[in-house]
Amino acid sequence: MSKKSPASCLTDSTVLQGDAEKILQQLPSNWFRCCVTSPPYWGLRDYGEDDQIGIENDPYKYIERLVAVFEQVRRVLRDDGTLWLNIGDSYTSGNRAYRAPDKKNPVRAMAHRAKTPKGLKPKDLIGIPWRLAFALQEAGWYLRGDIIWEKPNCMPESVKDRPTRAHEYVFQLSKSLRYHYDQANVRVNGRNRRTVWSIPTEPFSGAHFATFPPKLVEPCVLASSLPGDWVLDPFFGSGTVGAVCEQQDRRYVGIELNPEYVQIALERIRCTARTLFTLDATS
Ligand SMILES: C[S@@+](CC[C@H](N)C(=O)[O-])C[C@H]1O[C@@H](n2cnc3c(N)ncnc32)[C@H](O)[C@@H]1O
Repeated sequence: MSKKSPASCLTDSTVLQGDAEKILQQLPSNWFRCCVTSPPYWGLRDYGEDDQIGIENDPYKYIERLVAVFEQVRRVLRDDGTLWLNIGDSYTSGNRAYRAPDKKNPVRAMAHRAKTPKGLKPKDLIGIPWRLAFALQEAGWYLRGDIIWEKPNCMPESVKDRPTRAHEYVFQLSKSLRYHYDQANVRVNGRNRRTVWSIPTEPFSGAHFATFPPKLVEPCVLASSLPGDWVLDPFFGSGTVGAVCEQQDRRYVGIELNPEYVQIALERIRCTARTLFTLDATS
């Protein structure tokens, strides 16, 4: 982790600690070929940091804040760059005021849960992914794809009046009409890749809980960048994007607010073998 100015760190892959929007503002325009990221979900986890995103009282404010971060992402992307944005949905709280600690997953405890937002009812599914996708489209992004990440090993839910949620979205957004997309690099069994990806979640044994699996990140990196290119993750967490970039010979910048997670990510990346591998043809 460097204490120098963010831009002066861009000689090799690096992890920068701080608020994503503020750090991005200090990075040069047109630098990254690709961004793969998973922002904190609204109202789901408390990461215990002042500037954190996701604990806003209102989902509309949360979306506004993310749009501002992604405006900076769009600026630092090259004109042929792509953003792969993993995002899950949330329900209104049904007017419960807090969420009790969960032994297996302490960051799921919330001291305070937002009241039912204006225009929604208790128990409503908020539709965060599409609200965000439309807001980004309005801000100028090209919305090119909605990947369903199907989780065959999803967490059980104690609900009795709806099916258990077993998917999240990965939106593919581009800065321009034409952009780098290596279709051949991400074919599955000789066919163009489909929009439903079935990939098990992989718990990461560090202290961070909301990680996405490397198998979800690999196709995004392989389709939207070349070896040696720069890849960005402004919500780096445990550094999954960095680990995949190490393996796929890409350079990267990770930004993470929580200093403890920065240490976890650095340790994980240090342990990641730089062995190149290709995608499993059956995945
Ligand atoms: C869903 S997690 C990302 C997990 C990551 N994809 C991985 O595989 O480990 C979201 C991360 O965003 C961080 N975060 C929250 N607010 C932030 C902000 N304002 N700037 C930068 N990072 C922030 C949280 O600390 C958390 O680590």
